[in-house]
Amino acid sequence: MGFAMLGVFVGLLLEVSTYRAHAVTRTWKRQGLDLMEFSEPGIFNYSTLLLIEERDALYVGAREAIFELSKKNVAVRHKKAQWAVAEAEVTMCFMKGKSKEKDCLNYIRVLQVLDNERLYVCGTHAFQPQCDYLSLSDFTLAGRAEDGRGKCSFDPSQSFTTVMVDGELYSGTAYDFLGSNRIISRYSPSQPLLKTEHSTSWLNDPSFVFADVIREGENTADGEDDKIYFFFTEESVEYEFFGKVVLIPRVARVCKGDLGGQRTLQKKWTSFLKAKLVCSEPESNLVFNVVRDVFVLSAEDPKETVVYAVFTSQWCNEGLSAVCAYNIKNIEDVFSKGKYMKRIYVDRNEKWMRDNSITPTPRPGACINNHMRQQSISSSLHLPDKTLQFVKDHPLLEDPVLPIGSRPRFITKEVNYTQIVVERVRALDKKIYDVMFTGTEKGVLHKSVMFEGEAYVVEEFQLLKTPEPIKNLLLSSQTRSLYAGSDSGVVQSPTAFCHKYPSCKECVLARDPYCAWDPQTPACVNIFSTPSERYGRLIQRLNGDADSCPLGATGHRDKTPSIFCLLIVLASPFL
Ligand SMILES: *[C@@H]1O[C@H](CO)[C@@H](O)[C@H](O)[C@H]1NC(C)=O
Ligand SMILES: *[C@@H]1O[C@H](CO)[C@@H](O)[C@H](O)[C@H]1NC(C)=O
Repeated sequence: MGFAMLGVFVGLLLEVSTYRAHAVTRTWKRQGLDLMEFSEPGIFNYSTLLLIEERDALYVGAREAIFELSKKNVAVRHKKAQWAVAEAEVTMCFMKGKSKEKDCLNYIRVLQVLDNERLYVCGTHAFQPQCDYLSLSDFTLAGRAEDGRGKCSFDPSQSFTTVMVDGELYSGTAYDFLGSNRIISRYSPSQPLLKTEHSTSWLNDPSFVFADVIREGENTADGEDDKIYFFFTEESVEYEFFGKVVLIPRVARVCKGDLGGQRTLQKKWTSFLKAKLVCSEPESNLVFNVVRDVFVLSAEDPKETVVYAVFTSQWCNEGLSAVCAYNIKNIEDVFSKGKYMKRIYVDRNEKWMRDNSITPTPRPGACINNHMRQQSISSSLHLPDKTLQFVKDHPLLEDPVLPIGSRPRFITKEVNYTQIVVERVRALDKKIYDVMFTGTEKGVLHKSVMFEGEAYVVEEFQLLKTPEPIKNLLLSSQTRSLYAGSDSGVVQSPTAFCHKYPSCKECVLARDPYCAWDPQTPACVNIFSTPSERYGRLIQRLNGDADSCPLGATGHRDKTPSIFCLLIVLASPFL
């Protein structure tokens, strides 16, 4: 009898330990989450979001309207500005063959901070993009109606990205009505528009996803310039697959100080280079070649910055998504040291291969640094023609950008991720965790964490009211909130739902770095809203080991006895 009991005891122990190793994904019901929401009747496409923490505000660009919402509660609308298209312009758009109800409206797609008083705003404006200045104090447009070509897309459904850096607007967008001439450009109030060369080796039918600046930091010894990175998917020139188009995810970069060339590459980037982004799992032959969204996780030391990206696959239709992460240092190394590719013709067919010829100096595509300044090259206008001609013909690098660990952080089946944001948090074990929030095409949100090299999904819930794509996702560490924009509205959600775990065991098993069990209250609490004096008594085990939970005291709301309790009862004759 004693041995039989021991058998049960050991069996249960095993069960407990295997249970512990498994990550339990919580699927919350939307009704119980108290999400905050905003939308106005008759207004759609809330897809442009801008958070200004100092102003406590979330700015939203929708169709023909701009809103200022409270960042503490997006259901509270502070201000609204309307920006519709004049009747004559709608008629012109309609006459060019566009739909009055869908195309010939003004979709606000650029909302960027210009200075303390104004936002720079652009809209598609009935397929004739326009930009204007929005006063933050009285929330009115200046009525300047600047030409928006090269700053905003004509077509509201075409992919597009933009970033404002030191008063200059960088965009990846179409430059014409038909949407076929796509460019990466910089609009500056004091200089002519700087563009990419119109050539398939520079950009080949790209879908722009994201752009951001990576600063060099204040005191770099080599006087390096800040760089603007663009992420997009385009048609590859270097691969083919039985005559089919092969899509390829790319990262491209330009230097902030670029002024174009003097003769060669006049009013064109002299620093445009691009490389392939790799996100694949070789063991299972899974290749993720469509980049959908990017998030730059900045660190105090700019060199520690990590770029997170979500991918789907061109070949896999049932929905398969991956998250890959890249060290900025690796990306920079590819651009500063990588080999160039060149175009050759074999039987009149274009082929791309490594260029083994001697590369001119200064290195083609490099930013101006102290070393060049010493050689009297203080701006891109002084670059020699040989360097410029080379970069014009060789914008593609052969070396790819590989993800951290040479594989995806994680892969998820049966979902198409559209958005990602990442928060770096310090858990009670004093270790740093990157918490990844990914949004899907059906309005679902996943929260995932890497623990000892493996990712697990902590929770999953329907963030949007209806199953539609999450078009934009922002995160605020101050309000501990996520903000999602979609065609039908804006939703705000907390980054953790600790209070929903009723017992110590469930709280610990959630393996959520935000949550810990407080045995005194007793409740599962968010550690970031708990005073640090109390940290000593909190219980958090990110390996899911619930053994440290107090015996019996599993919280008054816990109705089912835990396996742990059962174990103690059975084992007691031996103790
Ligand atoms: C705008 O929203 C409407 C309504 O949800 C949707 O049908 C349409 O596709 C959206 N348009 C764009 C350009 O996103
Ligand atoms: C993912 O996208 C593909 C291609 O657009 C679609 O066929 C598939 O149904 C989607 N899957 C899910 C789960 O949303």
